[in-house]
Amino acid sequence: MTIFLFNFFSWSIFIIFLATLSLLFFWTWSTFKSKVPFIPVSSKTLKDIEKALDLKDDSVVYDLGCGDGRVLFYLSKNKPKAKYIGIENNPFPIFLVRIYSWWYKKKNNSDIKIIEKDFFDVDLSNATHIFTYLYPNIMDDLLPKFDKELKRGTRLISMSFHFTAKREIKEIELKRGKYKLARKIYVYEF
Ligand SMILES: C[S@@+](CC[C@H](N)C(=O)[O-])C[C@H]1O[C@@H](n2cnc3c(N)ncnc32)[C@H](O)[C@@H]1O
Repeated sequence: MTIFLFNFFSWSIFIIFLATLSLLFFWTWSTFKSKVPFIPVSSKTLKDIEKALDLKDDSVVYDLGCGDGRVLFYLSKNKPKAKYIGIENNPFPIFLVRIYSWWYKKKNNSDIKIIEKDFFDVDLSNATHIFTYLYPNIMDDLLPKFDKELKRGTRLISMSFHFTAKREIKEIELKRGKYKLARKIYVYEF
């Protein structure tokens, strides 16, 4: 009996170790493939993001590079009638968002659409609201696409990074520690 328990215990530890190692490998490999790494925004900023977006029931919200989808899942809890679309091209967060999405759909009624593509290749003309947490150079690369596709009045909220060639309508300083990420929200209107 003792030997059986010992074997069971050591095999369990070994399997957990292998699973952790595989996830770490998957994360590292997919991060190096992408120009912008998967760094989920802090859950403590979700309320501020929601406030800055100022959604309505008929809003169509995109998260460009939605990661594990936490922003969209959070928003849809409070405004379930709006439409939510996440775009992601990195296999690791896609894996996570698919699992969360399945779980979320089981528990809630609202649905979130995930597009597995490069966001440069997705038409954004039906968006009313856009959320981004990317990199400064990507923001600048995206600006011509936004100028061309977005309809008048589309609101864009960028966590931490701003455009070089477009002025924000508002800059919101979040009350977070000096060394924390995601300390500023830039609000734009197109
Ligand atoms: C800093 S993370 C932010 C994740 C999520 N928006 C959040 O706030 O928690 C940026 C995400 O954008 C994704 N990404 C970067 N470039 C992309 C592209 N061209 N098309 C689709 N997704 C992209 C990355 O894979 C990464 O998951």
